[in-house]
Amino acid sequence: MNPLRHVAIIMDGNGRWGLRYKNSRNAGHKAGLNTVEKILKETVKNKIRFLTLYAFSTENWKRPKKEINYLFDLLENFLINRIEELHKQNIKLKIIGFKNFSPKLNKLLSLSEKKTSKNKKLQINLALNYGSKTELIHAFKKIYKNKERVNEKNISNYLQTKDIPDPDLLIRTGNTKRLSNFLLWQLAYSEIFFEKKLWPDFNEKDFNRVIKSYKKIKRNFGNI
Ligand code: FPP
Repeated sequence: MNPLRHVAIIMDGNGRWGLRYKNSRNAGHKAGLNTVEKILKETVKNKIRFLTLYAFSTENWKRPKKEINYLFDLLENFLINRIEELHKQNIKLKIIGFKNFSPKLNKLLSLSEKKTSKNKKLQINLALNYGSKTELIHAFKKIYKNKERVNEKNISNYLQTKDIPDPDLLIRTGNTKRLSNFLLWQLAYSEIFFEKKLWPDFNEKDFNRVIKSYKKIKRNFGNI
């Protein structure tokens, strides 16, 4: 059975779900947050150490302002209402991506990271304003500036996922088969599951089914 230390998720399908059932994309994001809560609980139950959630990409800035503001309000309320409880549960929050939001949200994110920084049970990496290509460019620039060697170890060390093992498993919901500029370097040997369900419909049972299938895979890492 494969060990499972790190699960990464592209939570796709909120907008379509919202339009289909509530005539509003934002309603889909709200419902998507409920799925985040469900999967969080299940991740703890499964004793998984790292969970990386793609919440906002560098490309998502192209969306209408109303949707962007709604997403950040959801995130703000989530942090205000839930960070104490996450902290009590020994859960660490780390932001990957560049924090260039409103001063209020930037401060809230930094405080939440600081408060939970020593927690050990589960680390949630929230990818916000995250883009893998930008992350790689920054890493290469730092290597160049510090006159270091371009090798696998140094590149990994300059990524925002430094000290985090690469994802064993990537799940993308929403019936779309692409990586959307997410962890392109880190996913090199991950097992990838594309799920038909839209993120708000994805549930504990689906998550555990994927984990069960993952555990049975023969992972070769290029070997035989
Ligand atoms: C992709 O679906 C989803 C997002 C861009 C946002 C994800 C946000 C949440 C799940 C809620 C907030 C989460 C936290 C942690 C506070 P889409 O809108 O691209 O869906 P579509 O493909 O149907 O348009």
